[in-house]
Order: sequence, then C-alpha cells, then structure tokens
Amino acid sequence: MIIQKTENSKLPTFDPNNFSFGDTFIDHMIICEYENGKWGDVKLVPYGPLPFTPAMMGVNYGQACFEGMKAYKDENDDIFLFRPEKNFERINKSAKRLAIPEIPREAFIDGLNALVDIDREWIPKGEGMSLYIRPVVFATEEVLKARVSNKYMFAIVATPAKSYYSAPVSVKISDYYSRSANGGVGFAKAAGNYAASFYPTQLAIDEGYDQVIWTDDATHEYFEESGTMNVFVRINDTIYTPKTSEKILDGVTRDSFLQLAERNGIDVVVGDVKVADVVAALKDGSLKEAWGVGTAVVTTRFEAIGYGDEKFALPTLADEDSFAFILKKALVDIQTNHAEDPFGWRVKV
Ligand code: COI
Repeated sequence: MIIQKTENSKLPTFDPNNFSFGDTFIDHMIICEYENGKWGDVKLVPYGPLPFTPAMMGVNYGQACFEGMKAYKDENDDIFLFRPEKNFERINKSAKRLAIPEIPREAFIDGLNALVDIDREWIPKGEGMSLYIRPVVFATEEVLKARVSNKYMFAIVATPAKSYYSAPVSVKISDYYSRSANGGVGFAKAAGNYAASFYPTQLAIDEGYDQVIWTDDATHEYFEESGTMNVFVRINDTIYTPKTSEKILDGVTRDSFLQLAERNGIDVVVGDVKVADVVAALKDGSLKEAWGVGTAVVTTRFEAIGYGDEKFALPTLADEDSFAFILKKALVDIQTNHAEDPFGWRVKV
C-alpha cells in the first residue's frame, strides 16, 4: 500500500459535541484505480476532491455501488470494526450485478484497517458514537457509449457519526412506488436505488411522514424495506421481517438482529409480511411495535404508520418492554465491546 499522510490535519477543528452525520470527513481516504483489466496500487492519501469529468460513465449511467459500515472505540481507545467480511462479500455481490470488476481484499479489507488505524483519533467515543465508513466504487471511463466501463475507482471515505435519527419516525406504506423489481438490483447497494427512492420519499415527507415503507412492485401487498433500512414488525410477541430476496438488501444489521433474537428467545418469523395483516394488527392493537434497522441508524422505531388516508399511531413502549430496544442494546453492547461477542463479530483494528 502506498501511504501519503496529510500535513494539514482537520482534527483540531472537529468538535465531537457538535457535528451532524455525514458532512465531516476524516483526514485520509483510500483510493484504488482499475484500468487495462486490473486494479492498481492501493493508496492511502489525504481526503479531498478528485479530478473527474462530467462525461464519466459512473455519473451518466449510474454504474456505482457502495457499502456502509462502522468502527467503534471503547473506553480503552481500542477500536473495532463490525463484521467487515459481510460488507466485503456484499460489495462484490453488488459489483457483479453492476458489471463492475471484483474488488480485491487488499483494497477493501487492508484499506479499511489502514484508514481506521491512521485516523483513529477521529473516532468519537461514547453512547451512539462511531465512525461511519463508506467504501464506494464507480465507473470513471470518459465515454458516453452506454456499455460496461473499462475504468473504475474504488475509494473508502469515513465520517464521524452519532445516532442518525434521534427520535422515532413516521412511515407511509407505499401503494404505488417501489424500490425494486424482480430481476432488478434491489439486493445490491447500487447508488441508483437510493436516487430512485428520493422522489417518493419526498412525497411522503410532503404528506407529513419521514420515510416510505417500500412494498413489492407487482401487488404492493407485501412489505419489502423501509427508507434505507430493513423492516421489522412485532405483532403480539412475535417479530416478523421480510425474507431477503433479489429485491431486498441483505442487511448486516438485519442479520445480526435475527441472530440476537434467537439467542434472546424472541420468536421471529422470516417470510411474507402482508400489508393487510399489518393494517389489521394496527387496527386491533396487536401491533406492538415496528422499526427499521441499518448500519447508519442501527434501529429507528416507528411512532406512526400510514396507509392510504389513514395514519395509525403506535403504542409507546417502555424500553424494557420493547424488542427493538432490547435487540438494539444487545447489538450495540457487542459492537462497542461492552458485552461478550459469542458470534465473533468484532474485529479489532
Ligand atoms: C446504511 O445504513 O449504511 C445506509 O446505507 C444508509 C445510508 C444511505 C445513509
């Protein structure tokens, strides 16, 4: 790896008590370029803009995908990544679907470790604090032909993070828009999936909601995801979540929740989550809670769910009665080295 350290650290200007998600970047980044059929040297360089042309393919045709992951610092200033192999595996699944060449381990895993290590002072500690890490790959060839690009850049940037949504959110069940379709790219962390979600999300916001619950494109009868998160609902004492498929992102937080639910003796059904069943449970009071999970948010509880012209408020549960809270706490305790890690999820940097 080629290492070029910055001589102008921005760390003295960073206030860990006063920042917002995603707009402050640590001093360094990883870059690695692909051309002539192979990936070049992995470089750790000062964070900053790169020279690109508006004619590059990634911008015009959206041949781009990314990952979201976090590093945590404990009281002893030890630093841990959370299940980085899962993200490595997933970016290459996304890349394959987008005809992007496989990202080498040296760029992704070694790059992550080197970046987090060099900028370890940047990682805020304390409740809800972490470093959010964004590996991204995009097509850089300067050509307007609509075909697979011959040039790419893989990069890793990172931003200090605290809780993404501090309060519960209200969500609207979509009866028209969808984020994915059979044979599409829903399972991939394709940049275009997010672009396509912004307009329907804005419509939901205009109606007084925060996020959309995405339903299947064919019938809109089944839950798929919510906002940028996987979705869970609890009816009585059972948790339900959609089965992952080519339309649903195989979330690392989702998978961790499922394993933790099993360990905590909570009943989980992974399968079809029918809109009609959720609406009926909202009406008869058996829907106790619902929430989204993802790397950025960890868990966001829903305070209301809308369907058509109706908006149903969810009960407010005490933390100790909330499965969302119990599972989130169990997860965060492992991530932050406050609990044993029976799964081997923590990876020390
Ligand atoms: C993540 O949770 O890592 C996401 O992808 C959400 C992000 C788009 C903010």
